[in-house]
Amino acid sequence: MRALVVERYGDEAGVRATEVPQPQVGANDVLVRIHAASVNPLDLKIRDGEFKAILPYRVPFILGNDLAGTVIRAGAAVTRFAVGDEVYARPDKGRIGTFAELIAVHQDDVALKPISLTMEEAASLPLVALTSWQALVERAHVQPGHKVLIHAGSGGVGTIAVQLAKHLGALVATTTSTANVGLLKNLGADVVVDYEKQAFETVLHDYDVVLDPLGGENLDKSLEVLRPGGKAIGIAGPPDAAFARELGASPVLRAAMAALSFRTRRRARRRHVTYEFLFMRASGDQLREISALVDAGRIRPVVDRVFPFESGPEALDYVGKGHAKAGKVVLTMP
Ligand SMILES: NC(=O)c1ccc[n+]([C@@H]2O[C@H](COP(=O)([O-])OP(=O)(O)OC[C@H]3O[C@@H](n4cnc5c(N)ncnc54)[C@H](OP(=O)(O)O)[C@@H]3O)[C@@H](O)[C@H]2O)c1
Repeated sequence: MRALVVERYGDEAGVRATEVPQPQVGANDVLVRIHAASVNPLDLKIRDGEFKAILPYRVPFILGNDLAGTVIRAGAAVTRFAVGDEVYARPDKGRIGTFAELIAVHQDDVALKPISLTMEEAASLPLVALTSWQALVERAHVQPGHKVLIHAGSGGVGTIAVQLAKHLGALVATTTSTANVGLLKNLGADVVVDYEKQAFETVLHDYDVVLDPLGGENLDKSLEVLRPGGKAIGIAGPPDAAFARELGASPVLRAAMAALSFRTRRRARRRHVTYEFLFMRASGDQLREISALVDAGRIRPVVDRVFPFESGPEALDYVGKGHAKAGKVVLTMP
Protein backbone atom coordinates (compact mmCIF):
# COMPACT_ATOMS: atom_id res chain seq x y z
CA MET A 1 0.00 0.00 0.00
CA ARG A 2 1.02 3.66 -0.39
CA ALA A 3 2.07 5.59 2.70
CA LEU A 4 3.93 8.73 3.77
CA VAL A 5 6.96 7.51 5.65
CA VAL A 6 9.55 9.17 7.88
CA GLU A 7 12.83 7.49 6.96
CA ARG A 8 15.08 9.76 8.98
CA TYR A 9 14.24 12.21 11.76
CA GLY A 10 14.74 15.88 10.93
CA ASP A 11 12.80 18.42 8.93
CA GLU A 12 15.20 18.41 5.96
CA ALA A 13 14.70 14.70 5.45
CA GLY A 14 10.93 15.25 5.30
CA VAL A 15 8.53 12.46 4.47
CA ARG A 16 8.40 10.26 1.38
CA ALA A 17 5.47 8.63 -0.41
CA THR A 18 6.42 4.99 -0.80
CA GLU A 19 5.14 1.36 -0.89
CA VAL A 20 4.91 -0.39 2.49
CA PRO A 21 3.49 -3.75 3.63
CA GLN A 22 -0.18 -3.88 4.68
CA PRO A 23 -0.79 -3.72 8.46
CA GLN A 24 -1.34 -6.82 10.62
CA VAL A 25 -4.87 -6.98 12.03
CA GLY A 26 -5.11 -8.08 15.69
CA ALA A 27 -8.16 -9.78 17.24
CA ASN A 28 -9.42 -6.46 18.65
CA ASP A 29 -8.53 -4.38 15.59
CA VAL A 30 -10.53 -3.07 12.70
CA LEU A 31 -8.77 -2.65 9.37
CA VAL A 32 -9.78 0.73 7.96
CA ARG A 33 -9.46 1.91 4.36
CA ILE A 34 -8.51 5.53 4.98
CA HIS A 35 -10.33 8.13 2.87
CA ALA A 36 -8.91 11.20 4.58
CA ALA A 37 -6.40 12.07 7.29
CA SER A 38 -5.69 15.43 8.85
CA VAL A 39 -2.35 17.08 9.55
CA ASN A 40 -1.53 18.15 13.11
CA PRO A 41 1.42 20.16 14.43
CA LEU A 42 2.18 16.90 16.31
CA ASP A 43 3.07 15.25 12.96
CA LEU A 44 5.71 17.92 12.34
CA LYS A 45 7.11 17.59 15.86
CA ILE A 46 7.32 13.80 15.47
CA ARG A 47 8.92 14.11 12.02
CA ASP A 48 11.49 16.57 13.35
CA GLY A 49 12.40 14.28 16.25
CA GLU A 50 11.17 16.69 18.95
CA PHE A 51 9.15 13.95 20.66
CA LYS A 52 11.74 11.16 20.46
CA ALA A 53 12.18 11.02 24.25
CA ILE A 54 8.50 10.36 24.88
CA LEU A 55 7.32 8.85 21.58
CA PRO A 56 10.29 6.82 20.38
CA TYR A 57 9.06 5.66 16.95
CA ARG A 58 11.69 3.58 15.17
CA VAL A 59 12.39 4.71 11.59
CA PRO A 60 11.06 4.00 9.05
CA PHE A 61 7.51 4.64 10.26
CA ILE A 62 4.28 5.96 8.78
CA LEU A 63 3.28 9.43 9.96
CA GLY A 64 -0.27 10.62 10.74
CA ASN A 65 -2.53 10.83 13.81
CA ASP A 66 -6.11 11.28 12.52
CA LEU A 67 -8.29 9.35 10.11
CA ALA A 68 -11.73 8.89 8.60
CA GLY A 69 -12.49 5.84 6.50
CA THR A 70 -14.38 2.58 6.04
CA VAL A 71 -13.95 -0.67 7.96
CA ILE A 72 -12.93 -3.39 5.50
CA ARG A 73 -12.12 -6.17 7.98
CA ALA A 74 -12.85 -6.81 11.67
CA GLY A 75 -10.65 -8.92 13.97
CA ALA A 76 -12.14 -12.02 15.63
CA ALA A 77 -12.86 -10.23 18.94
CA VAL A 78 -14.35 -7.06 17.44
CA THR A 79 -17.91 -6.53 18.67
CA ARG A 80 -18.57 -2.86 17.97
CA PHE A 81 -17.93 -2.52 14.25
CA ALA A 82 -18.72 -4.37 11.05
CA VAL A 83 -17.37 -4.28 7.52
CA GLY A 84 -18.72 -1.21 5.73
CA ASP A 85 -18.97 1.04 8.82
CA GLU A 86 -17.81 4.60 8.22
CA VAL A 87 -15.57 5.51 11.14
CA TYR A 88 -13.09 8.06 12.43
CA ALA A 89 -10.29 7.81 14.96
CA ARG A 90 -7.14 9.09 16.54
CA PRO A 91 -5.22 5.79 16.89
CA ASP A 92 -3.31 5.12 20.12
CA LYS A 93 -0.02 7.05 20.26
CA GLY A 94 1.88 3.77 20.03
CA ARG A 95 0.14 2.84 16.74
CA ILE A 96 0.08 5.98 14.60
CA GLY A 97 0.33 5.93 10.79
CA THR A 98 -2.79 7.38 9.19
CA PHE A 99 -1.02 8.86 6.12
CA ALA A 100 -1.57 5.55 4.36
CA GLU A 101 -4.17 3.60 2.42
CA LEU A 102 -4.89 1.23 5.34
CA ILE A 103 -4.43 1.11 9.10
CA ALA A 104 -5.33 -1.40 11.83
CA VAL A 105 -6.82 0.35 14.89
CA HIS A 106 -8.01 -1.10 18.21
CA GLN A 107 -11.82 -1.03 18.33
CA ASP A 108 -11.71 0.97 21.59
CA ASP A 109 -10.10 3.91 19.77
CA VAL A 110 -12.67 4.09 16.94
CA ALA A 111 -16.17 5.57 16.61
CA LEU A 112 -18.75 5.84 13.84
CA LYS A 113 -18.08 9.11 12.06
CA PRO A 114 -20.70 11.87 12.36
CA ILE A 115 -23.24 11.13 9.61
CA SER A 116 -23.61 14.82 8.80
CA LEU A 117 -19.94 15.17 7.79
CA THR A 118 -17.90 14.31 4.72
CA MET A 119 -14.87 12.07 5.21
CA GLU A 120 -12.59 15.12 4.89
CA GLU A 121 -14.49 17.01 7.59
CA ALA A 122 -14.60 13.96 9.88
CA ALA A 123 -10.85 13.39 9.50
CA SER A 124 -10.20 16.92 10.73
CA LEU A 125 -11.72 16.21 14.13
CA PRO A 126 -10.44 13.32 16.25
CA LEU A 127 -7.18 14.63 17.74
CA VAL A 128 -8.33 18.22 18.25
CA ALA A 129 -11.82 17.30 19.47
CA LEU A 130 -10.44 14.73 21.94
CA THR A 131 -7.92 17.32 23.18
CA SER A 132 -10.74 19.84 23.70
CA TRP A 133 -12.93 17.24 25.44
CA GLN A 134 -10.17 16.03 27.74
CA ALA A 135 -9.18 19.60 28.66
CA LEU A 136 -12.64 21.08 29.19
CA VAL A 137 -14.77 18.13 30.30
CA GLU A 138 -12.34 15.73 32.03
CA ARG A 139 -9.77 18.08 33.51
CA ALA A 140 -11.56 21.41 33.97
CA HIS A 141 -15.14 20.12 34.57
CA VAL A 142 -16.49 23.21 32.80
CA GLN A 143 -19.98 24.09 34.07
CA PRO A 144 -22.60 26.60 32.90
CA GLY A 145 -21.50 30.11 33.82
CA HIS A 146 -17.78 29.32 34.05
CA LYS A 147 -15.51 31.85 32.39
CA VAL A 148 -13.22 30.01 29.98
CA LEU A 149 -10.37 31.51 27.95
CA ILE A 150 -9.25 29.57 24.90
CA HIS A 151 -6.12 30.86 23.25
CA ALA A 152 -5.43 30.50 19.53
CA GLY A 153 -9.15 30.21 18.79
CA SER A 154 -8.61 29.93 15.03
CA GLY A 155 -6.34 26.88 15.33
CA GLY A 156 -7.27 23.24 14.97
CA VAL A 157 -7.81 22.88 18.71
CA GLY A 158 -9.20 26.38 19.25
CA THR A 159 -12.00 26.18 16.66
CA ILE A 160 -13.39 23.06 18.36
CA ALA A 161 -12.64 24.02 21.98
CA VAL A 162 -14.51 27.35 21.61
CA GLN A 163 -17.61 25.52 20.35
CA LEU A 164 -17.40 22.80 23.02
CA ALA A 165 -16.99 25.35 25.82
CA LYS A 166 -20.06 27.22 24.53
CA HIS A 167 -22.00 23.95 24.41
CA LEU A 168 -21.02 23.35 28.06
CA GLY A 169 -22.59 26.71 28.93
CA ALA A 170 -19.42 28.69 29.57
CA LEU A 171 -18.78 32.35 28.87
CA VAL A 172 -16.00 31.97 26.31
CA ALA A 173 -13.17 34.36 25.54
CA THR A 174 -10.59 33.66 22.88
CA THR A 175 -7.50 35.22 21.33
CA THR A 176 -6.87 35.44 17.61
CA SER A 177 -5.39 37.57 14.84
CA THR A 178 -7.38 40.38 13.21
CA ALA A 179 -8.19 38.27 10.15
CA ASN A 180 -9.99 35.63 12.23
CA VAL A 181 -12.05 37.81 14.60
CA GLY A 182 -15.22 37.31 12.50
CA LEU A 183 -14.75 33.53 12.34
CA LEU A 184 -14.45 33.27 16.13
CA LYS A 185 -17.58 35.36 16.64
CA ASN A 186 -19.39 33.02 14.23
CA LEU A 187 -18.17 30.02 16.21
CA GLY A 188 -19.87 31.51 19.27
CA ALA A 189 -17.07 33.15 21.28
CA ASP A 190 -18.48 35.82 23.63
CA VAL A 191 -15.26 37.85 23.87
CA VAL A 192 -12.75 37.90 21.02
CA VAL A 193 -9.40 39.52 21.82
CA ASP A 194 -7.47 40.50 18.70
CA TYR A 195 -3.90 39.87 19.85
CA GLU A 196 -2.56 42.21 17.17
CA LYS A 197 -4.37 45.12 18.85
CA GLN A 198 -4.74 44.21 22.52
CA ALA A 199 -2.87 42.35 25.24
CA PHE A 200 -5.39 39.81 26.60
CA GLU A 201 -4.07 40.08 30.16
CA THR A 202 -5.11 43.74 30.26
CA VAL A 203 -8.75 43.07 29.37
CA LEU A 204 -9.61 39.64 30.84
CA HIS A 205 -9.99 38.96 34.58
CA ASP A 206 -11.29 36.32 36.97
CA TYR A 207 -11.36 33.39 34.57
CA ASP A 208 -12.05 29.88 35.89
CA VAL A 209 -10.15 28.05 33.16
CA VAL A 210 -7.55 28.83 30.50
CA LEU A 211 -6.72 26.39 27.69
CA ASP A 212 -3.29 27.35 26.38
CA PRO A 213 -1.96 25.89 23.10
CA LEU A 214 0.88 28.44 22.87
CA GLY A 215 3.05 28.06 26.00
CA GLY A 216 5.93 30.34 27.06
CA GLU A 217 5.08 33.93 27.85
CA ASN A 218 1.47 33.38 26.80
CA LEU A 219 1.09 30.77 29.54
CA ASP A 220 2.77 33.00 32.13
CA LYS A 221 0.34 35.82 31.34
CA SER A 222 -2.59 33.40 31.35
CA LEU A 223 -1.98 32.69 35.04
CA GLU A 224 -2.67 36.39 35.68
CA VAL A 225 -6.21 36.29 34.28
CA LEU A 226 -7.35 33.36 36.46
CA ARG A 227 -9.39 33.86 39.62
CA PRO A 228 -7.92 32.30 42.78
CA GLY A 229 -8.58 28.55 42.51
CA GLY A 230 -8.65 28.75 38.69
CA LYS A 231 -6.89 26.30 36.42
CA ALA A 232 -4.58 26.68 33.43
CA ILE A 233 -4.27 23.68 31.14
CA GLY A 234 -1.27 23.74 28.84
CA ILE A 235 -1.10 21.56 25.74
CA ALA A 236 2.08 23.01 24.23
CA GLY A 237 4.04 22.55 27.46
CA PRO A 238 5.80 22.62 29.74
CA PRO A 239 5.17 18.97 30.68
CA ASP A 240 4.74 18.06 34.34
CA ALA A 241 5.53 15.09 36.60
CA ALA A 242 1.94 13.77 36.39
CA PHE A 243 2.34 13.43 32.62
CA ALA A 244 5.67 11.66 33.11
CA ARG A 245 3.99 9.20 35.51
CA GLU A 246 1.20 8.61 32.97
CA LEU A 247 3.86 7.78 30.38
CA GLY A 248 5.61 5.39 32.77
CA ALA A 249 8.76 7.48 32.27
CA SER A 250 12.04 6.68 34.02
CA PRO A 251 12.84 8.55 37.27
CA VAL A 252 15.34 10.68 35.31
CA LEU A 253 12.77 11.71 32.68
CA ARG A 254 10.20 12.27 35.44
CA ALA A 255 12.57 14.62 37.27
CA ALA A 256 13.40 16.40 34.01
CA MET A 257 9.73 17.01 33.24
CA ALA A 258 9.02 18.23 36.78
CA ALA A 259 11.98 20.61 36.40
CA LEU A 260 10.67 21.93 33.06
CA SER A 261 7.39 23.03 34.65
CA PHE A 262 8.84 24.02 38.05
CA ARG A 263 8.83 27.75 37.31
CA THR A 264 5.29 27.74 35.91
CA ARG A 265 3.95 25.70 38.84
CA ARG A 266 5.66 27.98 41.36
CA ARG A 267 4.24 31.04 39.61
CA ALA A 268 0.81 29.42 39.66
CA ARG A 269 1.07 28.56 43.39
CA ARG A 270 1.95 32.15 44.21
CA ARG A 271 -1.22 33.30 42.46
CA HIS A 272 -3.31 30.55 44.13
CA VAL A 273 -4.10 28.92 40.79
CA THR A 274 -3.02 25.58 39.29
CA TYR A 275 -1.20 24.52 36.15
CA GLU A 276 -1.57 21.13 34.47
CA PHE A 277 -0.08 19.77 31.27
CA LEU A 278 -2.34 17.65 29.07
CA PHE A 279 -1.22 15.19 26.42
CA MET A 280 -4.37 13.89 24.79
CA ARG A 281 -5.12 10.18 24.43
CA ALA A 282 -7.18 8.07 22.05
CA SER A 283 -10.78 7.33 23.04
CA GLY A 284 -13.57 5.85 20.93
CA ASP A 285 -16.08 6.54 23.74
CA GLN A 286 -15.33 10.26 23.71
CA LEU A 287 -15.46 10.34 19.89
CA ARG A 288 -19.00 8.89 20.11
CA GLU A 289 -19.99 11.84 22.32
CA ILE A 290 -18.37 14.21 19.84
CA SER A 291 -20.22 12.60 16.89
CA ALA A 292 -23.51 13.20 18.74
CA LEU A 293 -22.65 16.88 19.28
CA VAL A 294 -21.65 17.31 15.64
CA ASP A 295 -24.81 15.62 14.33
CA ALA A 296 -26.89 17.78 16.71
CA GLY A 297 -25.32 20.88 15.13
CA ARG A 298 -23.44 21.92 18.29
CA ILE A 299 -19.95 21.59 16.82
CA ARG A 300 -18.85 22.04 13.23
CA PRO A 301 -15.40 21.36 11.84
CA VAL A 302 -13.37 24.12 10.23
CA VAL A 303 -11.29 22.87 7.29
CA ASP A 304 -8.76 25.28 5.83
CA ARG A 305 -7.55 23.27 2.84
CA VAL A 306 -7.62 19.75 1.40
CA PHE A 307 -4.50 18.32 -0.31
CA PRO A 308 -4.27 15.08 -2.32
CA PHE A 309 -2.14 12.31 -0.75
CA GLU A 310 0.70 12.79 -3.23
CA SER A 311 1.07 16.39 -2.00
CA GLY A 312 1.54 15.22 1.60
CA PRO A 313 4.98 16.82 1.99
CA GLU A 314 3.55 20.17 0.79
CA ALA A 315 0.61 19.80 3.19
CA LEU A 316 3.05 19.30 6.07
CA ASP A 317 5.05 22.34 4.96
CA TYR A 318 1.88 24.39 4.66
CA VAL A 319 1.01 23.62 8.28
CA GLY A 320 4.62 23.90 9.48
CA LYS A 321 5.11 27.34 7.94
CA GLY A 322 1.85 28.60 9.50
CA HIS A 323 0.11 29.19 6.14
CA ALA A 324 -3.23 27.74 7.29
CA LYS A 325 -5.67 30.60 7.78
CA ALA A 326 -7.94 28.80 10.24
CA GLY A 327 -8.82 25.26 11.24
CA LYS A 328 -7.42 22.06 9.82
CA VAL A 329 -5.49 20.83 6.81
CA VAL A 330 -6.63 17.49 5.41
CA LEU A 331 -5.09 14.89 3.10
CA THR A 332 -7.24 12.70 0.85
CA MET A 333 -5.96 9.18 0.29
CA PRO A 334 -5.44 7.55 -3.09
N1 LIG B 1 -0.75 18.17 24.25
C1 LIG B 1 -1.68 17.77 23.40
O1 LIG B 1 -2.34 16.75 23.59
C2 LIG B 1 -1.92 18.57 22.15
C3 LIG B 1 -3.02 18.27 21.33
C4 LIG B 1 -3.26 19.08 20.22
C5 LIG B 1 -2.41 20.15 19.93
N2 LIG B 1 -1.34 20.37 20.75
C6 LIG B 1 -0.43 21.51 20.48
O2 LIG B 1 -1.18 22.70 20.57
C7 LIG B 1 -0.68 23.66 19.64
C8 LIG B 1 -1.82 24.15 18.77
O3 LIG B 1 -2.34 23.09 18.01
P1 LIG B 1 -3.38 23.38 16.83
O4 LIG B 1 -3.65 22.10 16.15
O5 LIG B 1 -4.51 24.18 17.32
O6 LIG B 1 -2.43 24.31 15.91
P2 LIG B 1 -2.76 25.18 14.62
O7 LIG B 1 -4.00 24.66 13.96
O8 LIG B 1 -1.51 25.25 13.86
O9 LIG B 1 -3.15 26.60 15.21
C9 LIG B 1 -2.25 27.46 15.78
C10 LIG B 1 -2.98 28.80 15.85
O10 LIG B 1 -2.26 29.66 16.73
C11 LIG B 1 -2.70 30.96 16.44
N3 LIG B 1 -1.79 31.91 17.06
C12 LIG B 1 -0.48 32.12 16.80
N4 LIG B 1 0.01 33.05 17.65
C13 LIG B 1 -1.00 33.41 18.48
C14 LIG B 1 -1.13 34.32 19.56
N5 LIG B 1 -0.10 35.04 20.00
N6 LIG B 1 -2.32 34.42 20.19
C15 LIG B 1 -3.38 33.69 19.79
N7 LIG B 1 -3.33 32.82 18.75
C16 LIG B 1 -2.15 32.69 18.11
C17 LIG B 1 -2.80 31.02 14.94
O11 LIG B 1 -3.94 31.77 14.61
P3 LIG B 1 -3.95 33.25 13.97
O12 LIG B 1 -3.73 33.07 12.50
O13 LIG B 1 -5.30 33.78 14.31
O14 LIG B 1 -2.82 33.98 14.62
C18 LIG B 1 -3.07 29.53 14.55
O15 LIG B 1 -4.39 29.38 14.07
C19 LIG B 1 0.45 22.95 18.88
O16 LIG B 1 1.66 23.26 19.50
C20 LIG B 1 0.13 21.47 19.08
O17 LIG B 1 1.25 20.65 18.95
C21 LIG B 1 -1.07 19.61 21.84
